[in-house]
This record gives sequence, structure tokens and C-alpha cells, in this order.
Amino acid sequence: MSIHAKKYLVPLFLGVSFSVSGFVNVSFADLAKDLEGCAYCHGKDGASTDPHVPIIGGMSAIVLEDAMIAYSDEERSCPEYEYPEGPDKGKKTTMCEIADDLSKKETKAIAEYLAGKPFVRAKQEFDATLVEKGKEVHDELCEKCHAEAGSLASDDAGMLAGQWIPYLEHTFKDYAAGTRPMTKKMKKKMKKLDDESTNALIQYYGSLQ
Ligand code: HEC
Ligand code: HEC
Repeated sequence: MSIHAKKYLVPLFLGVSFSVSGFVNVSFADLAKDLEGCAYCHGKDGASTDPHVPIIGGMSAIVLEDAMIAYSDEERSCPEYEYPEGPDKGKKTTMCEIADDLSKKETKAIAEYLAGKPFVRAKQEFDATLVEKGKEVHDELCEKCHAEAGSLASDDAGMLAGQWIPYLEHTFKDYAAGTRPMTKKMKKKMKKLDDESTNALIQYYGSLQ
């Protein structure tokens, strides 16, 4: 971190029942450089336009930080992905490598920054015949934690409404295969899904634009 760089103070919220409990101090230059790296794949401010890369702007800071920790600890599968642009264009990397290269402070600052940006829903095609069924399944099994179709960052659960369908398909497979960790309570609900209801759910989330 450069001592001459302008300091950028990012407030850290530890949870819904806590108020501001500390400050993460990361230089503006470092944060800007990190975010530029994310943007090559996740788009500006996390508004991904690549169907295989999740939209991360506007997610809960806690969920973002937890995801980075899970990658860094290699608790969550991290498929190889090629930089589509930038100085490393064509080079393969994984989210595990990316998360591991960041300090705890940087990770917190990035999560806070992205959480303050809007979640820009994907404009995408979906199977309209499955949307109603998907909504029924969601309301029965998932709405309790993912309120309003999983559109509220304040739930501190993943964002579902408007996420890219190909990414969702991939991550549902990870959950089913046990290569992405989840809470016991979510696991109980996920176990009730078959291929048909899973696909209906995904089309429903993708239909919300
Ligand atoms: C080379 C492309 C690439 C770069 C660079 C990149 N990501 Fe990712 N990111 C991905 C892909 C692909 C996934 C989906 C991986 C998976 O299926 O688990 C992902 C997933 C994530 C997730 C999980 C989101 C969720 O909904 O659970 C987070 C958080 C994330 N990235 C944050 C970042 C941050 C922060 C940076 C910059 C420090 C970054 N990524 C840089 C490609 C990239
Ligand atoms: C007990 C609460 C709870 C229930 C019930 C629950 N979830 Fe979750 N879900 C979470 C939390 C917390 C996260 C964020 C942590 C994580 O990544 O696992 C999450 C994350 C997710 C993600 C990842 C989003 C992303 O950005 O990658 C998906 C997909 C998901 N849930 C789908 C579902 C579906 C579908 C159901 C119903 C069958 C469901 N969840 C039920 C709590 C819950």
C-alpha cells in the first residue's frame, strides 16, 4: 500500500443488529486497482454482462465477503476462467486464486464498495412456460430467506432475481454435488428439488428483469 495514496475510508457493518463498528482503511489506489481487475470479468461495478459470470454489484457485503473467504479457503469450487480483456487477456485464473491474492482489508473494502452499487438485472431469454411453476416452488421453499424472489440484499442471502441463468444453472449443480457449501436449513429445502423444479426456479429468477 502506498503511503502517499489518498486514504479511502469504508465503513464496515458487521450485521443487521450492529451499527457501524469499525473502519477498513485501504488506499484508494489499491481499491481502484483491485476493482479494475474484477471489472474485466464482472463488468463495471459488478454489473456483469457475461452470462457465465455472476452479477455481484448490489449484493450484501456480508455475502460477498463470505464468498471471497470460501474461495480463498477453497471450500467452494472455482472453475477456471479466461480474462476476456485487460493486460492478462487470454490468461486463465480462478476465483480461488483471485480471492487468495487479496488481504482481508482489501476484501472487506471491495465487498463494501460493491454492496453500495445497484444490482443490475440481466436482460436475457427465458422459458416463459416454466415461470409460474418456478414462482410456486420459490414461494413454498425459498421465499422465507430469499424474500421478494431473492431481490433484497438486506436478507444477507444470495441475490436470485435477475441473476444470469447460465451462472445459476452452474451454481445449482455445485450445490447439488456438494461442491459449494450451504447452511443446513437451505440444504433441507434444496433436497426437495428435482431437475424439473430446479429448472423452473432458474427460469423464474431469470424472468425477473
Ligand atoms: C477471470 C474472470 C474473473 C475475475 C478477474 C474475477 N472474477 Fe469473480 N467470478 C468469476 C466467475 C467465472 C465466477 C463464478 C464462479 C463459480 O461458479 O463459483 C465468479 C464468482 C464470483 C463471486 C461469487 C458470487 C456469488 O454470487 O456467489 C464473487 C463474490 C466474485 N466472483 C468476486 C470477484 C471480485 C471481488 C473480483 C476482483 C477482486 C473478481 N471476482 C474477479 C470470474 C472472475
Ligand atoms: C435458511 C435460509 C435459506 C433458505 C431456506 C434458502 N436459502 Fe438460499 N441462501 C441462503 C444464504 C444465507 C445464502 C448466501 C450464502 C451462500 O452463498 O450459501 C444463500 C445463497 C443462495 C444461492 C446462491 C446465490 C449466488 O449469488 O450465487 C442460491 C442460488 C440459493 N441460495 C438458492 C436457494 C433456493 C432455490 C432455495 C429454496 C429451494 C433457497 N436458496 C433456500 C439462505 C437460504
